[in-house]
Amino acid sequence: MSEETKQETVTINVDGVPAEVPAGANLVDAVEGLGKEIPHYCYHPKLSVSGNCRMCLIEMGTPGRDRATGEPLLNEDGSPKIMWVPKPVIGCATTVSEGMHVRTESEIVKSCREGVMEFLLVNHPLDCPICDQAGECRLQEFATDYGRGYSRFIEQKNVKPKRTRLGPRVMLDDERCILCSRCIRFCDEIAEDSVLGFIDRGSYSTLTTFPGKQLENNYSLNTVDICPVGALTSTDFRFKMRVWFLKETPSIDTESSVGCNTVIGSREGTIHRIAPRRNDAVNDTWMPDSGRALYKMVDSEDRLASYAIDGHPATAEEALETAADLLKAGRVALVGSGQLSVEEQYLLQKIRERLGDSLPSYLVARTGEGDGKLLSADRNPNVRGALLCGLIESYPESELTDLRAALEAGEVDTVLAVGEDITEAGIASGLLQGRKLIYLGSHHKNCSQVAAVEIPLLTVFEKTGTFVNQQFRVQKFAQAIPGPADVLHGLSTLTRLLEAVDPEAGIAPSPAAVWKRMEREVPEFAGMTYEAIPATGQRVSDARFAEVAFVEGKGMHFEPKSALAEA
Ligand code: SF4
Ligand code: FES
Repeated sequence: MSEETKQETVTINVDGVPAEVPAGANLVDAVEGLGKEIPHYCYHPKLSVSGNCRMCLIEMGTPGRDRATGEPLLNEDGSPKIMWVPKPVIGCATTVSEGMHVRTESEIVKSCREGVMEFLLVNHPLDCPICDQAGECRLQEFATDYGRGYSRFIEQKNVKPKRTRLGPRVMLDDERCILCSRCIRFCDEIAEDSVLGFIDRGSYSTLTTFPGKQLENNYSLNTVDICPVGALTSTDFRFKMRVWFLKETPSIDTESSVGCNTVIGSREGTIHRIAPRRNDAVNDTWMPDSGRALYKMVDSEDRLASYAIDGHPATAEEALETAADLLKAGRVALVGSGQLSVEEQYLLQKIRERLGDSLPSYLVARTGEGDGKLLSADRNPNVRGALLCGLIESYPESELTDLRAALEAGEVDTVLAVGEDITEAGIASGLLQGRKLIYLGSHHKNCSQVAAVEIPLLTVFEKTGTFVNQQFRVQKFAQAIPGPADVLHGLSTLTRLLEAVDPEAGIAPSPAAVWKRMEREVPEFAGMTYEAIPATGQRVSDARFAEVAFVEGKGMHFEPKSALAEA
């Protein structure tokens, strides 16, 4: 399904060059789309326009019309006569219109920017060397690009509160605040938790929380992302790493089926922060705070990083061989996970097919309360992937009741559980007595104690693959850091197990190779290749799953099918 829709355009003239831009676009965005810049602080494409910083001043004119007749006014050469607004106007409050002329580089515009920069820096501390924002600070960048280059200010700078704790995750250095109000508008308009405001006037204006309130909602860290200076910092990331050392890797937030697009900041194999990546169809420029802490799972104490057979250390070869023997012995049940990648789910489904189509396979549902924004009720990132691959046919349950019944009836000898602790999903350890559990997971769980074979898996940060979100949007994530030494990629482990039960399988352990197979076998993936999936994802048809009882309610960019039907 193509998401491309023909967009209407208008022709504007920027610094003497005509250009087509989307009709109705904000001038700042339209000019950015042309590869030019109108510097700005308070404007944010996903917030209302406040127009308070004045950094985006430009000259603007529109084709004139005769007031009496409404006829276009023309120059002697027949070109439209442009009626320039006598004073500079702010670009952020300007919507493009047909024939609009804009000057972004004139002398008057340059002098406006110099003046604004000089005013903004009057009370700004000169603490760039110790400021967390250094390297991604708009004030630093614009001072260099558009500032006067020297200061005429010889008076004492204002002293404002430092290290004010706005909430559990956000710290404020009021001296650095340029009063752009982005953070206030974010809380009012996106988080819908109005807790921030300015007090006092003029030079003494200060950002603060309302009396008795804290900035503690689950979106609070987005204020840190959009603060154009170093006034708001994350208590988790503050002073830990200079941003220019960070390697940035595109990824996906796995805490729910929304699949917020993220960027992982890592250095030398250690993750230091997770921030949102813009995707206007999924999460705009936001993500929940809870998703930013997920990287801590990588080095958690219960991390599984070695292979074991009956609780004794083993090599990867020995563990895989033992697991393969157990699978070949028959009477197997498979438990997959909505947290696995599509590629892993597909390989698991292939193992199931080889062992016998009638082999039962299960998934464990994780549900919570959706917040109507970017945290959905389905707390698995990839239940849709399992449906598409055929690993499951209906929405899973949180308890493995059917598997429990099969175990109680003595119908199963071996359970292959990939990414799930079945003892947390309604299978008592006692039920596994006399049966063999092959557990593949990234962390030690209760079931580790009864597992016949334990095989470590990589976390989402250590591997590459795809998830399918609640919109049936296939989204890629990339490996940000290496996994623990000697731990095989999940695709390698699963292709090895697949080859053990089907020597003819011949699937290479890479997402691209798996996609070549899925493209032929999964109708919704026909014509797709792993490489060609765009950074913002690609939607596939959900028609086959119209009867599936998904649990998500309305979100920022999601309408459940039932709500659409009622509308
Ligand atoms: S703290 Fe940052 S985002 Fe908030 S008003 Fe000040 S400069 Fe703007
Ligand atoms: S960006 Fe236009 S006034 Fe601030």
